[in-house]
Formats: sequence, structure tokens, C-alpha cells
Amino acid sequence: MLKKVILCLLAPLLIGGCASGKGVDVQKTQSLKEAYADYFLIGNIASGVDMDDLRYDILTTHHNIVTAENAMKPQYLQGTKGVFTFGDADAIVDKALSRGLKVHGHTLAWHQQSPAWMNSEGVSRETAVSNLITHAKTVVEHFKGRVVSWDVLNEAISDNPPNSEDWRTGLRQSPWFKAIGADYVEIVFKAAREADPKAKLYYNDYNLDNPSKAAAVYNMVKDINERNPDVDGRPLIDGIGMQGHYNSRTNPANVENSLQRFISLGVEVSITELDVQYGEAGKQTDEQKIAQGLVYAELFNVFKKYAEYIGRVTMWGIDDSSSWRKQACPTMFNDTLRPKPAFFGALDTDKFIAENKAFIEEIREKEKKEAKQADAVYGTPSGLADVSAWSQAPAIPIDNYLMAWQGAYGAARVLWDESSLYVLVNVNNAEMNKANLNAYEQDSVEIFIDENNGKTPYYEKDDAQYRVNFDNEATFNPSSAAEGFESWTSVSERSYTVSLKIPFRTITAKEGGVIGFDAQINGASAQGARQSVAIWNDLSGGSYQDPSGLGVLKLTKR
Ligand code: XIL
Repeated sequence: MLKKVILCLLAPLLIGGCASGKGVDVQKTQSLKEAYADYFLIGNIASGVDMDDLRYDILTTHHNIVTAENAMKPQYLQGTKGVFTFGDADAIVDKALSRGLKVHGHTLAWHQQSPAWMNSEGVSRETAVSNLITHAKTVVEHFKGRVVSWDVLNEAISDNPPNSEDWRTGLRQSPWFKAIGADYVEIVFKAAREADPKAKLYYNDYNLDNPSKAAAVYNMVKDINERNPDVDGRPLIDGIGMQGHYNSRTNPANVENSLQRFISLGVEVSITELDVQYGEAGKQTDEQKIAQGLVYAELFNVFKKYAEYIGRVTMWGIDDSSSWRKQACPTMFNDTLRPKPAFFGALDTDKFIAENKAFIEEIREKEKKEAKQADAVYGTPSGLADVSAWSQAPAIPIDNYLMAWQGAYGAARVLWDESSLYVLVNVNNAEMNKANLNAYEQDSVEIFIDENNGKTPYYEKDDAQYRVNFDNEATFNPSSAAEGFESWTSVSERSYTVSLKIPFRTITAKEGGVIGFDAQINGASAQGARQSVAIWNDLSGGSYQDPSGLGVLKLTKR
């Protein structure tokens, strides 16, 4: 009852949430770009479907800069060597300019959505360098005067750089890196600067709220700018783009720490692809909508605080139905293009927080207790190849994606006895690639265990991580977790199965007991770099060092 009253008080925010709730026509009342006119530019993406009038009205009402969602990616501009196809991108750019929007360019070099002829298939270093320079120069020159800034290089640093101090070791094993080496970074920035000295040149990446990834990016930009202090009058790299694909577990304090770190380099920072996953299967509860609004509000508070150094804040998606992550409802507008609480959270951060804070804290408390739960069933398989032994255990879906790409996914089933946990994982849609020297970048399965379900933010002696690739090669964290461990794999086309025997290290298992548990699938690309991560519960991306976000496994007997 109380909740109903609260929800009804929030009627203006919860469009459709209360029977009498009447939608706010935001196009007539408040504009995001006007609210932030003294702070930074407000951006969003456009693709062909956004050119019709209602969607375009939202673009122009609330935004003053636009990024092409896909049209300027290498695959679309030069799918065939030497044949540049600018038509779709030009249409987006010209319409945006004619309606008074600025345009940001995305992206010249990336490991996704790029044709293999550029840098794979046995292309020599010399040819790859020439392909990279030709592409960057031709594209930047084509849009010169129309595009104010470029994501010159996208996602070049890997997710868990082994040593952030030495940024070269943190470079993703991408096709460009493999064909050219670490100097491809400078090569592409120099080509872009030469082609349009006025355009601002950005390095762009995701998960930059992760301190070790942010440190590697910081060191890369620092090193390159120190060695290239005057390329047409200024350091080579003008800015760092924090993509900002966030979720319900994102801590705005981590975002702020990285912002501060980048600002200290003297470069501009922009938030370039903001969305906040907060929902499942394309649905959001009213509580989730408010909680998502709070994340937007807290993030925009951070952005306002550093506005002096921030060029723009660009959202990645006008509305949930067109979002690349529509299953998780991550944008500010719902499927009928009505503003969600996320919009109001961004629009007037203080007001939103004041009105909703108590309610939100209650929700967050509840969410903490509500890590996903699944049952492990009592039983000991006769051997790890005896996959039918797991048929009595319920399937645990491993399909929440943590990275930009949505590749390999699957499900786990778990058995237990007094001494061990037995996990079976079926993986679909895998490339079966283990070329990368980093074990976590190979097609592989990871299991995280917190035996006392202590949910500490760091590993204690009961916590461990187990990784097995499709070829049955195992790695452990800590290495002592290898003791008594066994695994088995079987592969067929794009699917593989892994079974693992994980001995308990600090407990004797009992019926009714609970342990922290998560299962992750790393998907490699055909070029041998991790392009996708799917997990059951922990969306933080930090389960390898922080078990507090793992799901919960209940030990049952049937
Ligand atoms: C995404 C687009 O939104 C999708 O339409 C496309 O299928 C894949 O790429 N990081 C980036 C963006 O830099 O280019 C990606 O965009 C999202 C992740």
C-alpha cells in the first residue's frame, strides 16, 4: 500500500506507472541541451531510422551534437579496398548540419566492424600501415569542416592490462596491433591530424571506470603526448572518450576517479556512449526505472562538477526500442519515445535525487540481498564426461553481456557432494579461438567461487577463480586452486561443453548451505582477441578480483 502511494506521488516520472499518470510532453517543456548549455554539449547517435521526423525532433530538441551509430565505421566506408562509400554517412551528416547539430566522427580504427582486407589475412606490416593511413586520411579529409572531432582509435586497450605502467603490454591483440605493432596508435593519430588539423582527436574506450584499464589509457596518452607535444600546434591526442556503457552496479565514484586522472593530463574528456543497463528481457519495473534515474542523476552530477574539462556527453541510443542493448532498457526514452525517470534524473539531478533518494536507498538495499539464486543438486557424476549426470540440475543462464560485443553465451548446471562442486557448462556461438596469449581472451569458461558467501570486495582464502578453454587448458586464481581440480571438454562446430570438478578448499558442504557462485563465458574473435563476455549474475566485470557481486548457489538434495 505504502509503495503504491509513493509510486503515485511519482506519477509525473512514471509514465504509465499509475493509472491516472499523464505523460509529460517533454518536447514542449524542457530541453536537455538547454539545461546543459553552460556545461557541455549533449549528444546522441543517429542511424538511417532516426532520420524520420518524430525521432529527429527528439534529436534536435535535446541534443546539439550527433554521432553516426554505425555509418562511419570502416566496414561501411571502405568495405572493399579503394572503394569508399560515403552515401549513408553523408546523409546523416548533412541532415544534422542543416538542423544546426554538430557532428562527431566515429571511428577510424577499431577491431570490430572493420574489413579483414585492411589488416588480417596475412597482410604485411607495410601494407597494413598504408591501409591504415589511407583510410584515416581519406575519411577525415572527406568530412573536413563538417565533423568537429574524431574517435580516431576505439577500444585499443584490453580489459585487464597485465601492467598498467607499461601501456604497450596492455594493448589489445587486435588485427591492427598484430599487423603493425604498438606504433599503429601513433600512426593513425598522425594521419588524422594531417588530414584535418582543426578536428579534435580522441582516444575512445569502455570500462574506463575500472582503475587499471584507466591507468593504462592514462599512461598511453601521456607517453604519446609527451613524445608528440607539437603536431600542428598541439599535442597529438586532444581528448579521451569514456564510452560509459554502464549498469546497475556502476559506482559513480569510480567514474569520477578516472575523470580526474584523465583531466590531470591536460586533455579534454568526453562521455561518448552513455547508457545504463537496468532491466531484463526488454522490461523494467517501476523501481528499476527510478533506480536507473538515480544512476543518471549521480553521473550527471559528476559531469557537472568537471564541466570545465568535459567537451560533450553523448548518449548511445535515443530510446530503448532502438538501443543496441534494448533488452536492458538502458536509455532515457521508452519505446513510445516518452521520457523515462532517467531523463528527469539527467535533466535536474538535484531535484531528482532529493525527491527519490530515500526510495532509492530502500531499493538498493533490497537489490543487494537479491543476488540471483540457483540450486545445485546433490550428486557425484561417475566421470566428467558423463554429461547426463547433470540433467537433474536446473540450467543457470550465462547470457548477460559485459562488453560491447554479444558473442558466445550458454548455461551451467551444478552438482555437489561433501567434497566438491561439479559444474557443467554448455557454450554456444563460439569462434573456438585460443590464439591469444592471455588466457582470458581465449574462448573459455570461468567459474567464480566464494565458499563462505562472504561477499567481501577482495579475494579471501575461500575465494577462487577457475578458467578452462575449449581445448581443456585450465588456469587458476590463486594458483593453489589447481589442487585436486579436474576438467573435461568436448567441441562441436560453434558449441563446446566443459565440465569441472572443483574441490572445496575451506568448507565441508552441507545440504541447505549457500556459496557465492558465478559462471562466465569469454568469447574470442576469429582474430584471437576477447570480443565478448557473458555472465550469470555479476555485471561489475570485476569478479576476478572482487567476489562481492557473485550470485548465490544453494546446495539442495532432491
Ligand atoms: C554498436 C552499435 O550500436 C550497434 O548497432 C552495432 O551492431 C555494434 O556496434 N562501442 C562502440 C560502438 O564504440 O561503436 C558500438 O556500437 C557499441 C560499443
